[in-house]
Amino acid sequence: MARVYNFSAGPSMLPEPVLKTAQAELLDYHGSGQSVMEMSHRSKWFDEIIQNTEAAMRRVLNVPDNYKIGFFQGGATQQFAMVPLNFMTTGTADYLVTGNFSKKAAEEGAKFGTARIAASSKDRNFTYIPDVKAVEYDPNASYIHICQNNTIFGTRFVEVPQVEGIPLVADMSSMIFSEPVDVTKYGCIYFGVQKNVAPAGMAVAIIREDLLGHSAKGIAPEKIPTMMNYTTLLKSNSMYNTPPCWCIYMTGLVMDYLEKEVGGLTEMQKINEAKAKVLYDYLDSQDFYHNPVEHRYRSIMNVTFTSPTPELDKEFCAAAADAGFVNLKGHRLVGGMRASIYNAMPPKAIDELVVFMEQFRKEHAGQ
Ligand SMILES: Cc1ncc(COP(=O)(O)O)c(C=O)c1O
Repeated sequence: MARVYNFSAGPSMLPEPVLKTAQAELLDYHGSGQSVMEMSHRSKWFDEIIQNTEAAMRRVLNVPDNYKIGFFQGGATQQFAMVPLNFMTTGTADYLVTGNFSKKAAEEGAKFGTARIAASSKDRNFTYIPDVKAVEYDPNASYIHICQNNTIFGTRFVEVPQVEGIPLVADMSSMIFSEPVDVTKYGCIYFGVQKNVAPAGMAVAIIREDLLGHSAKGIAPEKIPTMMNYTTLLKSNSMYNTPPCWCIYMTGLVMDYLEKEVGGLTEMQKINEAKAKVLYDYLDSQDFYHNPVEHRYRSIMNVTFTSPTPELDKEFCAAAADAGFVNLKGHRLVGGMRASIYNAMPPKAIDELVVFMEQFRKEHAGQ
Protein backbone atom coordinates (compact mmCIF):
# COMPACT_ATOMS: atom_id res chain seq x y z
CA MET A 1 0.00 0.00 0.00
CA ALA A 2 1.47 3.33 -1.02
CA ARG A 3 0.58 6.31 1.11
CA VAL A 4 0.74 9.70 -0.60
CA TYR A 5 2.03 12.96 0.79
CA ASN A 6 -1.24 14.79 1.36
CA PHE A 7 -0.79 18.57 1.37
CA SER A 8 -4.50 19.25 1.98
CA ALA A 9 -5.38 22.28 4.11
CA GLY A 10 -7.81 20.13 6.06
CA PRO A 11 -8.82 17.43 6.73
CA SER A 12 -5.15 16.57 6.65
CA MET A 13 -2.58 13.90 7.35
CA LEU A 14 -2.51 12.36 10.80
CA PRO A 15 0.66 10.92 12.34
CA GLU A 16 1.10 7.34 11.13
CA PRO A 17 1.75 5.89 14.62
CA VAL A 18 -1.62 7.36 15.68
CA LEU A 19 -3.43 5.74 12.76
CA LYS A 20 -1.75 2.43 13.60
CA THR A 21 -2.84 2.60 17.25
CA ALA A 22 -6.39 3.42 16.16
CA GLN A 23 -6.26 0.47 13.78
CA ALA A 24 -4.94 -1.89 16.45
CA GLU A 25 -7.66 -0.79 18.89
CA LEU A 26 -10.44 -0.57 16.33
CA LEU A 27 -12.31 -3.79 17.12
CA ASP A 28 -11.53 -4.13 20.80
CA TYR A 29 -10.65 -1.03 22.78
CA HIS A 30 -8.57 -2.03 25.81
CA GLY A 31 -10.39 -5.32 26.40
CA SER A 32 -13.85 -3.74 26.27
CA GLY A 33 -14.82 -5.98 23.34
CA GLN A 34 -16.05 -2.87 21.50
CA SER A 35 -14.78 -0.18 19.20
CA VAL A 36 -14.69 3.40 20.51
CA MET A 37 -17.07 4.04 17.59
CA GLU A 38 -19.64 1.77 19.21
CA MET A 39 -19.38 2.40 22.92
CA SER A 40 -21.68 4.49 25.08
CA HIS A 41 -20.36 7.92 25.89
CA ARG A 42 -21.48 7.21 29.47
CA SER A 43 -19.37 4.04 29.72
CA LYS A 44 -16.39 3.80 32.06
CA TRP A 45 -14.09 3.39 29.05
CA PHE A 46 -15.23 6.56 27.37
CA ASP A 47 -15.20 8.45 30.64
CA GLU A 48 -11.53 7.55 30.93
CA ILE A 49 -10.90 8.54 27.29
CA ILE A 50 -12.38 12.03 27.61
CA GLN A 51 -10.69 12.69 30.94
CA ASN A 52 -7.32 11.50 29.68
CA THR A 53 -7.68 13.53 26.47
CA GLU A 54 -8.38 16.72 28.38
CA ALA A 55 -5.60 16.09 30.90
CA ALA A 56 -3.08 15.41 28.12
CA MET A 57 -4.15 18.55 26.23
CA ARG A 58 -3.62 20.58 29.39
CA ARG A 59 -0.11 19.19 29.75
CA VAL A 60 0.85 19.56 26.08
CA LEU A 61 -0.40 23.12 25.74
CA ASN A 62 0.32 24.11 29.34
CA VAL A 63 -3.27 25.20 30.01
CA PRO A 64 -3.65 26.87 33.43
CA ASP A 65 -6.29 25.61 35.90
CA ASN A 66 -8.47 28.71 35.49
CA TYR A 67 -9.22 27.74 31.87
CA LYS A 68 -11.94 25.24 30.89
CA ILE A 69 -11.61 22.99 27.84
CA GLY A 70 -14.67 22.02 25.81
CA PHE A 71 -15.16 19.57 22.91
CA PHE A 72 -17.95 20.68 20.60
CA GLN A 73 -19.58 19.74 17.31
CA GLY A 74 -20.16 22.36 14.63
CA GLY A 75 -16.54 22.99 13.66
CA ALA A 76 -14.66 26.26 13.96
CA THR A 77 -17.39 27.99 11.97
CA GLN A 78 -19.87 27.45 14.78
CA GLN A 79 -17.37 29.07 17.13
CA PHE A 80 -17.59 32.22 14.98
CA ALA A 81 -21.17 32.55 16.33
CA MET A 82 -20.68 31.09 19.81
CA VAL A 83 -17.96 33.63 20.62
CA PRO A 84 -20.15 36.75 20.14
CA LEU A 85 -23.27 35.07 21.52
CA ASN A 86 -21.48 34.26 24.78
CA PHE A 87 -18.90 37.04 25.07
CA MET A 88 -20.18 40.22 23.37
CA THR A 89 -21.41 41.64 26.67
CA THR A 90 -20.92 45.31 25.73
CA GLY A 91 -22.61 44.92 22.34
CA THR A 92 -19.39 45.56 20.45
CA ALA A 93 -16.12 43.73 19.71
CA ASP A 94 -12.98 44.41 17.69
CA TYR A 95 -12.02 42.12 14.80
CA LEU A 96 -8.72 42.04 12.95
CA VAL A 97 -9.51 40.88 9.44
CA THR A 98 -6.47 39.14 7.96
CA GLY A 99 -8.14 36.66 5.64
CA ASN A 100 -11.28 34.80 4.73
CA PHE A 101 -11.93 33.10 8.07
CA SER A 102 -11.50 36.22 10.18
CA LYS A 103 -13.86 37.99 7.75
CA LYS A 104 -16.41 35.24 8.27
CA ALA A 105 -15.94 35.45 12.04
CA ALA A 106 -16.60 39.21 11.88
CA GLU A 107 -19.72 38.66 9.77
CA GLU A 108 -21.10 36.26 12.39
CA GLY A 109 -20.17 38.72 15.13
CA ALA A 110 -22.17 41.44 13.36
CA LYS A 111 -25.31 39.34 13.85
CA PHE A 112 -25.11 39.92 17.62
CA GLY A 113 -23.85 43.50 17.88
CA THR A 114 -21.14 45.68 16.38
CA ALA A 115 -18.22 43.75 14.92
CA ARG A 116 -15.81 46.64 14.40
CA ILE A 117 -13.05 45.99 11.89
CA ALA A 118 -10.21 47.42 13.96
CA ALA A 119 -7.64 46.54 11.28
CA SER A 120 -7.51 44.72 7.97
CA SER A 121 -4.84 43.59 5.52
CA LYS A 122 -7.24 43.46 2.59
CA ASP A 123 -5.47 46.41 0.90
CA ARG A 124 -2.61 44.09 -0.09
CA ASN A 125 -4.69 40.97 -0.61
CA PHE A 126 -3.99 39.66 2.89
CA THR A 127 -0.27 39.15 2.26
CA TYR A 128 0.74 40.65 5.62
CA ILE A 129 -0.48 41.13 9.19
CA PRO A 130 -1.21 44.66 10.47
CA ASP A 131 1.08 45.96 13.21
CA VAL A 132 -0.94 44.95 16.31
CA LYS A 133 0.70 47.64 18.43
CA ALA A 134 -0.40 50.42 16.04
CA VAL A 135 -4.07 49.40 15.96
CA GLU A 136 -6.50 51.67 17.82
CA TYR A 137 -8.70 49.36 19.84
CA ASP A 138 -12.14 50.33 21.09
CA PRO A 139 -11.87 50.62 24.92
CA ASN A 140 -15.48 49.39 25.07
CA ALA A 141 -14.81 46.24 23.02
CA SER A 142 -15.92 43.03 24.76
CA TYR A 143 -13.01 41.20 23.14
CA ILE A 144 -10.48 41.40 20.32
CA HIS A 145 -10.72 38.60 17.76
CA ILE A 146 -7.88 37.35 15.56
CA CYS A 147 -7.23 34.38 13.32
CA GLN A 148 -3.72 33.42 14.38
CA ASN A 149 -2.78 31.57 11.19
CA ASN A 150 -4.51 32.34 7.91
CA THR A 151 -4.89 28.99 6.20
CA ILE A 152 -5.80 30.37 2.78
CA PHE A 153 -3.34 33.24 2.49
CA GLY A 154 -0.40 31.60 4.29
CA THR A 155 0.22 34.28 6.90
CA ARG A 156 0.51 34.19 10.68
CA PHE A 157 0.61 36.60 13.60
CA VAL A 158 4.09 36.78 15.10
CA GLU A 159 2.87 39.10 17.86
CA VAL A 160 -0.68 39.24 19.24
CA PRO A 161 -2.78 42.16 20.53
CA GLN A 162 -2.57 42.65 24.30
CA VAL A 163 -4.91 45.28 25.71
CA GLU A 164 -5.42 45.56 29.47
CA GLY A 165 -8.93 44.47 30.40
CA ILE A 166 -9.96 43.28 26.90
CA PRO A 167 -9.76 39.52 26.36
CA LEU A 168 -8.11 38.22 23.21
CA VAL A 169 -10.03 35.54 21.31
CA ALA A 170 -8.09 33.54 18.73
CA ASP A 171 -9.03 31.08 16.03
CA MET A 172 -6.04 28.72 16.05
CA SER A 173 -7.52 26.11 13.71
CA SER A 174 -4.53 25.87 11.41
CA MET A 175 -1.63 26.27 13.85
CA ILE A 176 -2.69 24.74 17.17
CA PHE A 177 -0.08 22.30 18.57
CA SER A 178 2.44 23.35 15.91
CA GLU A 179 4.36 25.41 18.49
CA PRO A 180 4.04 26.40 22.16
CA VAL A 181 1.39 29.03 22.93
CA ASP A 182 1.22 31.26 26.00
CA VAL A 183 -2.41 30.52 26.87
CA THR A 184 -2.47 33.27 29.52
CA LYS A 185 -2.41 35.90 26.74
CA TYR A 186 -5.88 34.75 25.62
CA GLY A 187 -9.39 34.82 27.02
CA CYS A 188 -10.47 32.15 24.55
CA ILE A 189 -8.65 29.93 22.06
CA TYR A 190 -10.67 27.81 19.68
CA PHE A 191 -9.91 25.52 16.79
CA GLY A 192 -11.42 23.00 14.40
CA VAL A 193 -9.49 19.75 14.89
CA GLN A 194 -9.21 18.56 11.29
CA LYS A 195 -5.73 19.93 10.56
CA ASN A 196 -3.31 19.21 13.38
CA VAL A 197 -5.38 17.24 15.85
CA ALA A 198 -7.93 14.68 14.69
CA PRO A 199 -10.41 13.75 11.95
CA ALA A 200 -13.04 16.37 11.04
CA GLY A 201 -16.12 16.74 13.22
CA MET A 202 -15.13 18.70 16.31
CA ALA A 203 -13.98 22.07 17.58
CA VAL A 204 -12.19 22.66 20.87
CA ALA A 205 -12.51 25.84 22.92
CA ILE A 206 -10.22 26.76 25.80
CA ILE A 207 -11.89 29.50 27.84
CA ARG A 208 -10.81 31.57 30.84
CA GLU A 209 -13.38 30.93 33.57
CA ASP A 210 -14.27 34.56 34.28
CA LEU A 211 -15.66 34.90 30.72
CA LEU A 212 -18.33 32.28 31.35
CA GLY A 213 -21.88 32.89 32.56
CA HIS A 214 -22.52 35.94 30.37
CA SER A 215 -24.12 36.62 26.97
CA ALA A 216 -24.29 39.15 24.15
CA LYS A 217 -25.83 42.48 25.14
CA GLY A 218 -29.62 42.27 24.75
CA ILE A 219 -29.75 38.46 24.97
CA ALA A 220 -30.36 36.93 28.39
CA PRO A 221 -27.90 34.08 29.19
CA GLU A 222 -30.79 31.59 29.48
CA LYS A 223 -31.96 32.50 25.95
CA ILE A 224 -28.74 31.25 24.35
CA PRO A 225 -29.60 28.00 22.53
CA THR A 226 -28.32 25.19 24.74
CA MET A 227 -25.88 23.79 22.22
CA MET A 228 -24.37 27.26 21.71
CA ASN A 229 -24.00 27.99 25.41
CA TYR A 230 -20.41 27.54 26.59
CA THR A 231 -21.40 27.71 30.24
CA THR A 232 -23.95 24.89 29.99
CA LEU A 233 -21.74 22.71 27.82
CA LEU A 234 -18.68 23.16 30.01
CA LYS A 235 -20.64 22.59 33.24
CA SER A 236 -21.48 19.14 31.92
CA ASN A 237 -17.86 18.53 30.84
CA SER A 238 -18.81 18.45 27.13
CA MET A 239 -21.32 15.65 27.88
CA TYR A 240 -24.57 17.62 27.82
CA ASN A 241 -25.49 15.45 24.85
CA THR A 242 -23.59 12.80 22.91
CA PRO A 243 -20.16 14.28 22.23
CA PRO A 244 -18.01 13.60 19.13
CA CYS A 245 -16.60 10.46 20.78
CA TRP A 246 -14.32 9.27 17.98
CA CYS A 247 -12.75 12.72 17.53
CA ILE A 248 -12.12 12.97 21.27
CA TYR A 249 -10.47 9.55 21.26
CA MET A 250 -8.28 10.45 18.25
CA THR A 251 -7.36 13.77 19.86
CA GLY A 252 -6.16 11.81 22.89
CA LEU A 253 -3.97 9.61 20.69
CA VAL A 254 -2.47 12.68 19.01
CA MET A 255 -1.77 14.26 22.42
CA ASP A 256 0.02 11.05 23.48
CA TYR A 257 2.03 11.12 20.27
CA LEU A 258 3.02 14.77 20.81
CA GLU A 259 4.08 14.09 24.39
CA LYS A 260 5.77 10.74 24.05
CA GLU A 261 7.08 10.53 20.50
CA VAL A 262 7.72 14.16 19.56
CA GLY A 263 8.69 15.34 23.03
CA GLY A 264 6.34 18.34 23.30
CA LEU A 265 5.56 21.50 21.42
CA THR A 266 9.02 23.08 21.60
CA GLU A 267 10.33 20.06 19.70
CA MET A 268 7.36 20.15 17.34
CA GLN A 269 8.06 23.81 16.59
CA LYS A 270 11.71 23.07 15.74
CA ILE A 271 10.62 20.39 13.29
CA ASN A 272 7.95 22.62 11.74
CA GLU A 273 10.26 25.62 11.38
CA ALA A 274 12.91 23.48 9.75
CA LYS A 275 10.36 22.06 7.29
CA ALA A 276 9.01 25.50 6.36
CA LYS A 277 12.55 26.86 5.98
CA VAL A 278 13.43 24.22 3.39
CA LEU A 279 10.44 25.24 1.28
CA TYR A 280 10.77 29.01 1.69
CA ASP A 281 14.54 28.90 1.12
CA TYR A 282 13.90 27.08 -2.12
CA LEU A 283 11.17 29.54 -3.15
CA ASP A 284 13.53 32.44 -2.47
CA SER A 285 16.39 30.86 -4.40
CA GLN A 286 14.82 31.02 -7.88
CA ASP A 287 12.31 33.13 -9.80
CA PHE A 288 10.04 30.58 -11.46
CA TYR A 289 7.85 30.16 -8.36
CA HIS A 290 6.70 33.07 -6.28
CA ASN A 291 5.42 33.43 -2.71
CA PRO A 292 3.69 36.82 -2.18
CA VAL A 293 3.73 36.97 1.64
CA GLU A 294 5.78 39.54 3.56
CA HIS A 295 8.60 37.38 4.97
CA ARG A 296 8.03 38.22 8.63
CA TYR A 297 4.46 36.96 8.47
CA ARG A 298 4.99 33.78 6.49
CA SER A 299 3.04 30.85 7.90
CA ILE A 300 4.98 27.74 8.86
CA MET A 301 1.85 25.64 8.26
CA ASN A 302 0.48 26.82 4.90
CA VAL A 303 2.93 27.81 2.18
CA THR A 304 1.44 29.43 -0.92
CA PHE A 305 3.19 29.85 -4.26
CA THR A 306 2.48 30.40 -7.92
CA SER A 307 4.28 29.45 -11.11
CA PRO A 308 4.49 31.95 -14.01
CA THR A 309 0.99 31.22 -15.38
CA PRO A 310 -2.33 29.66 -14.24
CA GLU A 311 -1.90 27.03 -16.98
CA LEU A 312 1.46 25.99 -15.55
CA ASP A 313 -0.06 25.95 -12.04
CA LYS A 314 -2.61 23.45 -13.30
CA GLU A 315 0.04 21.37 -14.99
CA PHE A 316 2.17 21.49 -11.84
CA CYS A 317 -0.66 20.19 -9.63
CA ALA A 318 -1.45 17.35 -12.02
CA ALA A 319 2.20 16.31 -12.37
CA ALA A 320 2.71 16.58 -8.59
CA ALA A 321 -0.31 14.37 -7.91
CA ASP A 322 1.06 11.76 -10.34
CA ALA A 323 4.31 11.84 -8.39
CA GLY A 324 2.49 11.26 -5.03
CA PHE A 325 2.22 14.87 -3.81
CA VAL A 326 -1.53 15.40 -3.62
CA ASN A 327 -3.85 18.34 -2.86
CA LEU A 328 -1.38 21.09 -3.74
CA LYS A 329 -3.97 23.21 -5.56
CA GLY A 330 -4.29 26.65 -3.93
CA HIS A 331 -7.57 27.96 -2.53
CA ARG A 332 -9.84 29.45 -5.19
CA LEU A 333 -9.46 32.93 -3.60
CA VAL A 334 -5.70 32.89 -4.13
CA GLY A 335 -5.09 30.49 -7.01
CA GLY A 336 -1.70 28.88 -7.58
CA MET A 337 -0.52 26.26 -5.13
CA ARG A 338 -0.59 25.78 -1.39
CA ALA A 339 1.44 23.23 0.54
CA SER A 340 -0.15 22.66 3.93
CA ILE A 341 2.66 21.18 5.98
CA TYR A 342 1.04 20.44 9.31
CA ASN A 343 2.63 18.45 12.14
CA ALA A 344 2.07 15.06 10.51
CA MET A 345 3.82 15.95 7.23
CA PRO A 346 7.24 14.27 7.49
CA PRO A 347 10.32 16.45 6.83
CA LYS A 348 11.44 14.15 4.03
CA ALA A 349 8.22 14.99 2.15
CA ILE A 350 9.34 18.61 1.92
CA ASP A 351 12.81 17.58 0.74
CA GLU A 352 11.23 15.42 -1.94
CA LEU A 353 8.73 18.12 -2.91
CA VAL A 354 11.55 20.61 -3.45
CA VAL A 355 13.35 18.12 -5.70
CA PHE A 356 10.14 17.68 -7.67
CA MET A 357 9.61 21.45 -7.91
CA GLU A 358 13.12 21.99 -9.19
CA GLN A 359 12.69 19.27 -11.79
CA PHE A 360 9.41 20.84 -12.94
CA ARG A 361 11.04 24.27 -13.05
CA LYS A 362 13.90 23.00 -15.22
CA GLU A 363 11.44 21.42 -17.61
CA HIS A 364 9.16 24.46 -17.85
CA ALA A 365 11.22 27.62 -17.27
CA GLY A 366 11.32 29.86 -20.30
CA GLN A 367 8.35 28.16 -21.97
C1 LIG B 1 -8.36 29.28 10.31
C2 LIG B 1 -9.65 28.57 10.06
N1 LIG B 1 -10.74 28.92 10.74
C3 LIG B 1 -11.92 28.31 10.53
C4 LIG B 1 -12.06 27.30 9.63
C5 LIG B 1 -13.39 26.65 9.42
O1 LIG B 1 -13.39 25.46 10.10
P1 LIG B 1 -14.60 24.42 10.08
O2 LIG B 1 -14.64 23.85 8.70
O3 LIG B 1 -14.21 23.44 11.14
O4 LIG B 1 -15.84 25.14 10.42
C6 LIG B 1 -10.94 26.87 8.91
C7 LIG B 1 -11.12 25.77 7.96
O5 LIG B 1 -10.40 25.37 7.16
C8 LIG B 1 -9.71 27.54 9.12
O6 LIG B 1 -8.63 27.19 8.43
